[in-house]
Amino acid sequence: MRMARTGEATAGVARGVGTGCPVGAEVGGGGAVVDQNRRMSDGSRVLYIIVCAAGPAGSVGRLVGLAQNAGWAVQVVATPSALAFVDVGAIEEQTGRPVRSRYRKPSEPRSRRADAIIVAPATYNTINKFAQGIADTYALGLLAEASGLGIPVVVLPFVNSALADRVPFRRSLEQLRAEGIRILFGPGGSEPHAPGTGGDLVDTFPWHLALRATASGRRQTTHQER
Ligand SMILES: Cc1cc2nc3c(=O)[nH]c(=O)nc-3n(C[C@H](O)[C@H](O)[C@H](O)COP(=O)(O)O)c2cc1C
Repeated sequence: MRMARTGEATAGVARGVGTGCPVGAEVGGGGAVVDQNRRMSDGSRVLYIIVCAAGPAGSVGRLVGLAQNAGWAVQVVATPSALAFVDVGAIEEQTGRPVRSRYRKPSEPRSRRADAIIVAPATYNTINKFAQGIADTYALGLLAEASGLGIPVVVLPFVNSALADRVPFRRSLEQLRAEGIRILFGPGGSEPHAPGTGGDLVDTFPWHLALRATASGRRQTTHQER
């Protein structure tokens, strides 16, 4: 597994991606990139998958695949800590876009805005910071603005019971739910696990629930278009 570097990854996709330019326009040629370019220009909606530093992060490619099958163009955003868990090269190949983990430079163009955001696996740390309005990572910055921009957010935590029982965490869930954020934790979502058992549960992390809670990525045909 190729381990991640900090900042933006640089495989063949790097120059054209995360820049707001159509993917492939600058890169020219690579199969996956061209496929993604087509996907972006065919009216597909854009799903941002924010991945945090917990065990299931290494399998985020499963959610990417499910989302692509549902018609989404996918942009993966990793927290800086999550880069150590993710096979950045494999995800970039799968999405045709670089895994983003830091804010752009002021001189760099904006990325295309998300139509929906999934945070999975969502950590204790990121959930609490999200609830508090902290924006000290690119991932949290996206989340901080999402409600104001009308972008739906679904959160699928991976948190053990020792952390999940903390009053600050329970308050965070309440506050975020009150703001309209969908948090799939407890019955019908991911369940808090016993401390020390997370490693055994990575393969059963219910990625599909996050996607199911997010509307389809296929653009709806409007009345006028029919
Ligand atoms: C091997 C390993 C596994 C971890 N698993 C979890 C986890 O399942 N849930 C969690 O909330 N934090 C977990 N952590 C702790 C987070 O990585 C840590 O809180 C980190 O600051 C989260 O950063 P982020 O929220 O920016 O991704 C784990 C850490 C390590 C080293």
